[in-house]
Amino acid sequence: MELIQGKRSHNVDRGWLAARAATSDVLLDLGTGDGRFVRQMAIAHPHRLCIGVDACRENLWAESRTAPPNAIFVIANALALPPELHGVAAQITINFPWGSLLRGLLDGTLLGELQRVAQPHAALDLRLNAGALIEAGVAFEAGATTIRHALLGHGWRCGPWRAMDAPALRSFPTTWARRLAWGRDPRALALRAEARG
Ligand SMILES: C[S@@+](CC[C@H](N)C(=O)[O-])C[C@H]1O[C@@H](n2cnc3c(N)ncnc32)[C@H](O)[C@@H]1O
Repeated sequence: MELIQGKRSHNVDRGWLAARAATSDVLLDLGTGDGRFVRQMAIAHPHRLCIGVDACRENLWAESRTAPPNAIFVIANALALPPELHGVAAQITINFPWGSLLRGLLDGTLLGELQRVAQPHAALDLRLNAGALIEAGVAFEAGATTIRHALLGHGWRCGPWRAMDAPALRSFPTTWARRLAWGRDPRALALRAEARG
């Protein structure tokens, strides 16, 4: 599995990750973008290991260089996650996915990966924005309904979608949430689900 720190990267194996995760709950943030959310979570929860995953390394150069020791960043395609991550996550977050990450939720191809990385009873926090769904060719509410049904079909116990308004977006600690809050279409939804035991 490839970790990035600034402009440098190196590979670690399952043993390395298992040792890091042995005494900590693991938060796994898929499509982490610039890594700001993972940094904030790692600072707020010093006893958690917070792992950000993104396919785009350039976005991670700045945050990964100065991240706290309990924050790490993995370069990977979320649709084919490294086996080192299998079974490690007590919490998975996916904040404002777009592109293939969002398509993987809509067509279900990401859901097998979620099952592989989740521990029993892991929490999944998913946040969607209208613009990304519309860009993917799907109406906002219909896309959210499709994703919730797909999660239910894969055994996740899902709460309802809840609206995130502009103030909620402004106070949410990701770069994309801030952009949405000040943009033309700040409609967003959040859902919490739990993996089966
Ligand atoms: C709209 S940005 C959101 C970034 C961050 N979560 C935030 O809220 O600021 C979507 C991110 O998903 C990443 N992404 C898209 N498809 C991906 C995939 N298949 N695997 C990993 N990352 C992906 C993009 O590189 C981008 O950084």
